Amino acid sequence: MDAHPDASRERDRWAASADAWDRWADPMADLADKLNRPLLDAAGLTAGDRLLDLASGAGEPALGAARRAGAGGLVVGSDLVPGMMAGAVRRARDIGEREGGPAPAFIAADMTALPFADAAFDRVTCRFGIMFVPAVASALREVRRVLRPGGKAAFMVWGPCAGNGLFAGIGDVVADHLGEDGSLAPLFRFAEPGRLSAAMRAAGFTETEETDLTPVRKAPAGQPFWRAALDMSFGHRLGGLGVDRRTALEADIARHFEAQAVNGVVPVPSHARIVVGW
Ligand SMILES: C[S@@+](CC[C@H](N)C(=O)[O-])C[C@H]1O[C@@H](n2cnc3c(N)ncnc32)[C@H](O)[C@@H]1O
Repeated sequence: MDAHPDASRERDRWAASADAWDRWADPMADLADKLNRPLLDAAGLTAGDRLLDLASGAGEPALGAARRAGAGGLVVGSDLVPGMMAGAVRRARDIGEREGGPAPAFIAADMTALPFADAAFDRVTCRFGIMFVPAVASALREVRRVLRPGGKAAFMVWGPCAGNGLFAGIGDVVADHLGEDGSLAPLFRFAEPGRLSAAMRAAGFTETEETDLTPVRKAPAGQPFWRAALDMSFGHRLGGLGVDRRTALEADIARHFEAQAVNGVVPVPSHARIVVGW
C-alpha cells in the first residue's frame, strides 16, 4: 500500500505513460546524454564506484552511469513503477548485445523505503524524479542512509515552468483543450532555488551545492519536435482522446511553436538544476 495518499496517483500517472517512455527513449538518448553527463559529473562518479540511480524510468542516467563506473563498479537502477523500467531493461540488453561491457541491474523500489543496506553505495543519482515523491523527507533520509559516509547524492530537477518552453507551451494548449488537472505542478516543486537543498540538509546532508543549466535547443520549424514531450509528460491525459480531438490539440501545439520560429528555427529554452549533497 502507498504510505501517502498522493503516491497512488503518481503510480497511476507513470504506469499510463510507460509505453511512451519506452518508445521515445532511444530517439531522445542524445538529448538525454547532454543532461546526464553534468549530473554524473556532479555526483563525482568514477570507475569502480557503486551507484544507485533512483526513478530511472527508461534508463536515464543509469545506462550511461554503468559505462562510466566500468566493470569494476556497480550500477543499480530503480523505479517505483516496474512498467517504466521495461524500456531500461530492454535498452540495457540491446547495449549489452551491441557493445558488451557492464550493464546496470534494475529493481523496482519506492525511494521512500529502499531495499538496500546502510552505506551500500558511493553515489546516488536521481534525474527528474524526486519532485514526484509526496513524502520527500522520507526519500531523502533513505538516500542519506544508503550512502556511505562521504558519499554524494546528485538530483536533477526542473527550474520554473516559464523557463521550460516545451512544458509551458504544451501545457497551455493541453489546458485549453482538456482543462487544468494540476498534474504539471509537481514538475516544478523544486523550481525555487534552495528549496531542495534545504530539504536535503533537514534530512542529514551537511553540505549542498546547486548549479543551474539553461540550454536553448534550436528545434527545426515545421517539425513535431514537441511530440516526445507531449507523449511522455502529458500522455496520462491523452488516453481515450478521440482522433479528431487529438488532431486539433496537436495542430494548436504546432501553431504555438511555429509562431516563435526565426529563420526556420524555433528556440526552445529549458531550465534544469543540479542539487548535490554530501
Ligand atoms: C520524469 S520520470 C524520470 C525518468 C528518468 N530518470 C529520466 O530522467 O528519464 C519520473 C520517474 O519517477 C518515478 N517515481 C515516482 N515516484 C517514485 C518513488 N516514490 N520512488 C521511485 N521512483 C518514483 C516514476 O515512476 C517515473 O519513472
